[in-house]
Amino acid sequence: MENTLYQLLKIENFLELQEELKNAIDGMFQNTECAINDPAPSWFEKNCPKTYKFILSRSKVPLRYLRFYCTPGGELLTPHVDGHVNFRAPFGLNIPVTGTENTLMKWYRTEADNLYDHKAWHDGNPLIACLPKVYEGLEKLDELELLEPHFVRTDIIHSVINPNPNLRVILSVRWYFTREKYHHWNEVFKL
Ligand SMILES: [Fe+2]
Repeated sequence: MENTLYQLLKIENFLELQEELKNAIDGMFQNTECAINDPAPSWFEKNCPKTYKFILSRSKVPLRYLRFYCTPGGELLTPHVDGHVNFRAPFGLNIPVTGTENTLMKWYRTEADNLYDHKAWHDGNPLIACLPKVYEGLEKLDELELLEPHFVRTDIIHSVINPNPNLRVILSVRWYFTREKYHHWNEVFKL
């Protein structure tokens, strides 16, 4: 896979979809702690039908999940890699829902031997991520202010910083992948 960290996805009616998502998550999160929510497909069909139909109509492989990530005002989602050290989640389509202005997703370079598998729990389900053994010396590669939908690499160590007082919410779309296949967005989505 080439070394691209992110790619813009131009959606003609993005503002309409963003408004739909913003209304759908009203009251879902508090501005107090980092949180996630993976509503069922039926929830998306009912609450964000336009967004959900758009994603399905362009998908070439099944979805794994659609997950809202909330980062409260003044919070930092510390550097991590999605998945296991030896089986990383390759990328997501991140759609800004609210409060992403002036916030940054950052990517860093680090050696694979500086990562270890870490398991946290959310509603009884394991959340798998790799964390750095040593945070010092992480070299910043690039950063992105997510104002429009982007495919973003999640197999490269990354963090999120929200310096605003208000909460930041994004929707991250994830597709099925194996060790061999579907490691690039052009394999799973009609661009
Ligand atoms: Fe992540």
